[in-house]
Amino acid sequence: MKQIKINGGRPLSGEIHIGGAKNSAVALIPAALLADGISVISNVPNITDRDALFDIIKSLGVNVTMEGSVVTIDSTHMENLEISEKLSNRLRASYYFMGVLLAKYKHVEIYFPGGCNIGERPIDLHLKGFEALGAHIDYNQDTHKYIISAENLTGSRVNLDFASVGATINIMFAATMANGTTIIENAAKETEIINIADFLNAMGAKITGAGTSTITIEGVDKLTSADIRVIPDRIEAGTYLLMGALLGDDLIVCGVNPDHITAVLNKLKDMGIKFSINGDRIKISKCDNLNPINITTLVYPGFPTDLGQPMSVLLTQANGTSLFEETIWENRMQHVEYLNKMGAGITLKDNTHAIINGPTKLKGSQINATDLRGGAALVMAGLIAEGETTISNIEYILRGYENIIRKLKNVGADIKIIKTEE
Ligand code: UD1
Repeated sequence: MKQIKINGGRPLSGEIHIGGAKNSAVALIPAALLADGISVISNVPNITDRDALFDIIKSLGVNVTMEGSVVTIDSTHMENLEISEKLSNRLRASYYFMGVLLAKYKHVEIYFPGGCNIGERPIDLHLKGFEALGAHIDYNQDTHKYIISAENLTGSRVNLDFASVGATINIMFAATMANGTTIIENAAKETEIINIADFLNAMGAKITGAGTSTITIEGVDKLTSADIRVIPDRIEAGTYLLMGALLGDDLIVCGVNPDHITAVLNKLKDMGIKFSINGDRIKISKCDNLNPINITTLVYPGFPTDLGQPMSVLLTQANGTSLFEETIWENRMQHVEYLNKMGAGITLKDNTHAIINGPTKLKGSQINATDLRGGAALVMAGLIAEGETTISNIEYILRGYENIIRKLKNVGADIKIIKTEE
C-alpha cells in the first residue's frame, strides 16, 4: 500500500509548472479515435486516468506511444469491440467512448463508468442526447452493460436540463458525423469544451459556439487525424495557488491561463491575499491575516466545484466564519471528517453546506483520501499542519495530479510517498 507522508510547516518557494488539463486530456484521447490515422496530442498530463484511457484504446487495437507529454495515437487498425466492465470502471471519462464509438460505428458496447464517489453521477443527459440523434439504448440492469446503436444518426436540437460537461462533450462527439445539424442548448461552457471543439474542428468537424451555452454541430461525412495541445489545468493551478496562499514565499505558479481562474483569483483577493500576474505566471505569498468569505460552487465561469474542497482548507485559516456551499455534487464533504480530526472547526449543516470556523491550528494525523479533490485538500492540510501527516488511499490523488510529490518537493515541501505492507 502506498501512502503520502508530509512533515508540515515548510514554506513553498520557487516555480511550480502546471501540466495539461486532466478534464481536457481525458476527452481528447478518446476523440482521436473518431478518425482513422495518426493524431498527436501534446501537453498530456502524467496521471493515472491517462493510463486507464490508454488501456481502453489499446483494447480496441489502437496503438499509443508517448514521449514525455506528447502522445501519438494511431487508430489505423482500430476495431469496435466491447469495452470490458473492468476497463469501463477504471475512470469516469470512459463514458466518452459512448459518443465516439457511436459516431464512428453506430454501435457501442460498454459498461457504467467509474470515477470518484462524489455523488450519484448519472449519465441520463448523455443518453437522452444520443436518443435525440436517433440512437437506441439497451441497458442491462444486472450487468450494467450498455449497448447503444443507431441505423442512422440525425442532427437534432438537444436542450440539456443541466449544463453537464460530460454530456455536452459526448453529444458533440456523437453529432460530428450525424446527418444534418445538431444544436446543444444550455451547453456547459467550461474552457475544456473549447479545447475539445478545436481538436474536432482541426479533424474536419464543423462546430461553432463552444464555450457558450449554444453549440452548433453541422455533421460531416468523415473526420481525419489532427494534432492538438491540451490547455493548462486550471484546477491544478488553483490548487497550488491555494497552497501558495497558505505557505508561499514568492511561490510562482507557471503555465497558467489566468483568464480560466478568474473566479478563484477574485476569491483570493476578497480574502486579502496578494498575488501578481505576469503573462502565464502567478506569484503568490502567504497571507497571515485572511478574511473569511463565502464560497458557492457553480458551473463555469463560477467558482469550480473541483476547487471547493481545497478552498475549504484555506478557510480553516481565515479569521472568522466562512460558509462553503457545494451545488454540483451531493457528496463532496467527505474530507471534512479528516480536517476536523486534524483540528479544524467545520460543522456540516448537511452534505452540501459547511460552516468553517477559523483560524484553527491543524495537527499532523493519519487520514484517508476519499476522492481526488478531497485528497488534494488533505495534502494541503498536511502541508500546513504541525508535525507528521500520513495520507492513505492516495490512488485518488494520483489519478488527477501529475507528479504532485515531485512538484511540491521542488518548491520546499517535506513530502514523500512511502510503501507499507497492508
Ligand atoms: C466533469 C469533470 C469533473 C467536474 C464536473 C463539474 C471530467 C472528466 N470531470 O464531470 O471534474 O467536477 O465536470 O465541473 O471532465 N448530471 C446528471 N446527468 C447526467 C450528467 C450529469 O444529472 O447525465 C449531473 C451530475 O450528477 C452533477 C452535475 O450534473 O450533479 C454535473 O455533472 P457533469 O458536469 O456532467 O460532470 P462530469 O462531466 O461528470
